[in-house]
Amino acid sequence: MKPLILLKNIHKSYPLDGFDLEILKGIDLKIEAGEFVAVMGPSGSGKSTLMNILGCLDTPTSGEYLLDGKNVENLNADQLAVIRNNKIGFVFQGFNLLSRTSAMENVELPMVYSGISDAERRRRATAALNSVGLGDRMFHLPNQLSGGQQQRVAIARAIVNEAPIIFADEPTGNLDTKMSVEIMQLFTKLNRDLKRTIILVTHEEDIALYAKRIIKIVDGEIHSDTPNTKKAKK
Ligand SMILES: Nc1ncnc2c1ncn2[C@@H]1O[C@H](COP(=O)(O)OP(=O)(O)OP(=O)(O)O)[C@@H](O)[C@H]1O
Ligand SMILES: [Mg+2]
Repeated sequence: MKPLILLKNIHKSYPLDGFDLEILKGIDLKIEAGEFVAVMGPSGSGKSTLMNILGCLDTPTSGEYLLDGKNVENLNADQLAVIRNNKIGFVFQGFNLLSRTSAMENVELPMVYSGISDAERRRRATAALNSVGLGDRMFHLPNQLSGGQQQRVAIARAIVNEAPIIFADEPTGNLDTKMSVEIMQLFTKLNRDLKRTIILVTHEEDIALYAKRIIKIVDGEIHSDTPNTKKAKK
């Protein structure tokens, strides 16, 4: 079986004052379908840079990225858009919801580009919102929802296209402990029951313990990569 994600010697540099500032310094990584991975590491170590490359939002300076066996470098813009739309769901620290748009419409958004009928869009968005426990908040605007509820809308949006991979960059960074636990329980359910592959960046040890594998990035390199043998507190 080919791995879902295979990175070979990935480098990423940004030009700075006539020099190249190297952010990722040769990342090798293999992630199989169904894994639940936490990525940790100090601020500025390159976690978000790596996530953006994994999510096909950015491209490496050198190295090879095989997603589902396909070399991402060889895909054109249309093919990449199809992958981002059908294979990948994103959840961000700041929720990234459209502010004057209801929970329902936010969740429907990824399907607008997929040529799905209005009725089917509504049906799927309703199912996704129900599955994150927001059946009674579907027509609330983001500012009428708590932080945890807004993040659940973002998760519903990430899963509505049944994307097999979910990338989450500090999804609990703006949430208190109680809401963080709710969100992590939701990710655990998505991984365990729906077999979604989850790759999540976090600064917090407690949050990383929900994952089955913990990767630490230090200064653009993988510093450790170990199975998680501890259980999350809740
Ligand atoms: N577009 C860019 N141009 C130049 N440098 C950049 C750019 N994007 C990121 N960097 C630099 O790359 C480094 C890594 O950034 P990155 O966002 O990946 O860190 P991070 O590990 O996610 O940190 P944090 O935990 O604070 O979110 C930082 O030093 C940052 O300044
Ligand atoms: Mg970051």
